[in-house]
Amino acid sequence: MSILDDKRILLVVTGGIAAFKALELVRLIKANGIHVRVVLTESGSKFVTPLSIQALTEDKVYTELFSLTDESEMGHIQLSRDADLILVAPATANILAKMRAGISDDLASTVLLATDKPVFVAPSMNVRMWEHAATQDNIGVLIKRGVEVLGPDVGAMACGEFGAGRMCEPAEIVQHVLSFLSLNKSLEGKTALVTSGPTLEPIDPVRFISNRSSGKQGYAMASALSKHGAKTTLVTGPTNLRDPSGVKVIKIETAADMLQACLDSLPADIAICAAAVADWRVVNNSEQKIKKRDSGSVSALELNENPDILKTLSQLHSNRPDLVVGFAAETENLINNAVKKRKNKGCDWILANDVSETTGTFGGENNLVHLITDKGSEEWPLMLKEDVAIRLVEKIVKEIER
Ligand code: C5P
Repeated sequence: MSILDDKRILLVVTGGIAAFKALELVRLIKANGIHVRVVLTESGSKFVTPLSIQALTEDKVYTELFSLTDESEMGHIQLSRDADLILVAPATANILAKMRAGISDDLASTVLLATDKPVFVAPSMNVRMWEHAATQDNIGVLIKRGVEVLGPDVGAMACGEFGAGRMCEPAEIVQHVLSFLSLNKSLEGKTALVTSGPTLEPIDPVRFISNRSSGKQGYAMASALSKHGAKTTLVTGPTNLRDPSGVKVIKIETAADMLQACLDSLPADIAICAAAVADWRVVNNSEQKIKKRDSGSVSALELNENPDILKTLSQLHSNRPDLVVGFAAETENLINNAVKKRKNKGCDWILANDVSETTGTFGGENNLVHLITDKGSEEWPLMLKEDVAIRLVEKIVKEIER
C-alpha cells in the first residue's frame, strides 16, 4: 500500500477561465489513488458544471453553504476536517482576498476559514490583477501564514494580454501536492536556521560590493526543512525569490547583520549555511556618495575580512546546533578543498559544488554536489536545487534519528 492511498484532497474550484482545468486536476489526483472531493463556487459553476465534475469524482459536488441536505450529509466544518490538504485551483484574486481577510460568505471561503489543514493555492487571473499591490499584499500575508502558492505561470492569457497570471499546468500542481503528501513530518519539534543569498557590503550610500548568488539553494533548503515539519528561520541577503511558505524570513544586507540575525535566532537544532557571504567589507565606507575625480583615480578601498558565519556557528561553545552544514563552492580540486574546509570551519557536513562557469550552478537551477562528512564523500547526480534540498533533508532526518 502506498503512503498516498488513504489521503484525501478537498479541491476548491473558483471562478476563473482556468476552472475547466479542474477536470484534468481531478482526473490526475484520482489516477494517483487519492480521494478527491470538490467544492465549487457559484462563479466557478459558470465555467465548469457540477455535473461534469461529479462524473469524474463519483461524488457529490458541494456548492452551497446553507444547504440542509449538504449540512446533514457533510457539514462545512466536516468538509475541511475530512481532508489532508485543501487545494484551491484555480484561485481567483477574489478568493485570495477573502482568505487573507477571513471573509466567509460562501461555502468555499467558509471551508478555508474553518480549516487547520495545509492549504495550496494555484492563482489564475489577469496579469494586472496579479501584479496589483492588493493581490501581492494578500499573497505575501498568505505565504507568511503557511499557505503554499503554486505559480502562476507567465504566458499568453485568455484576455489577450501576456504576463504572469496563467494557472500552472495540472500535472505540475498535482506533482507538488503529491510530493507534499508523501513527506513525513519527521522534523516536527526541531528548529532549523538557514542562511542564503549574497551579502551586500556598502562602499557609499549608493554603491556596494556583492556577488551573483541567486539564493535559490538556501530558499529550497528552508522550504524543504519546513515541509518536513522543522520550525525554520531563513536569514537571507537580497534575492528576487518569493518567501518560502511557513518559514520565518529575516532579510539583511551585510555579513555583520547576517551573523547577528543568526545568533539571535539560536537555539536551533540544525543550521545550514548556504549564503554566499561577501568575504570582505569596506572599512572606510563613505557616508556621502564618493565623487568622480578629474584624475580618473579613486582613493583606495580599505577592505576587512567579514566574520565567518559558518565557522562561528560551528565553533560556538554553548548553543551550537547539533548539525551544522556548509557549502563549498569551488572551481578546482573540489573534494580536497571541501574536505579541508570542513575541518577548518568545524562544521559537520559540507556540500561541495563545482561552480566553474561551464556548470551554470551560480544563479542556475541545477546543482552537482558531493556530500562530505566525517565518513568520506559521496557524489550526487546533477539535480534541481529543490531536489538537492530534499535529499539533504532526508539525510538530516536519518542522522537525527540515529
Ligand atoms: O570559505 P568559503 O566562503 O568558501 O566557505 C563557504 C561556506 O562558508 C558556505 O557554507 C558559506 O555560507 C559559509 N560562509 C559563511 N560566512 C562567511 C564565508 C562563508 O558563513 N563569511
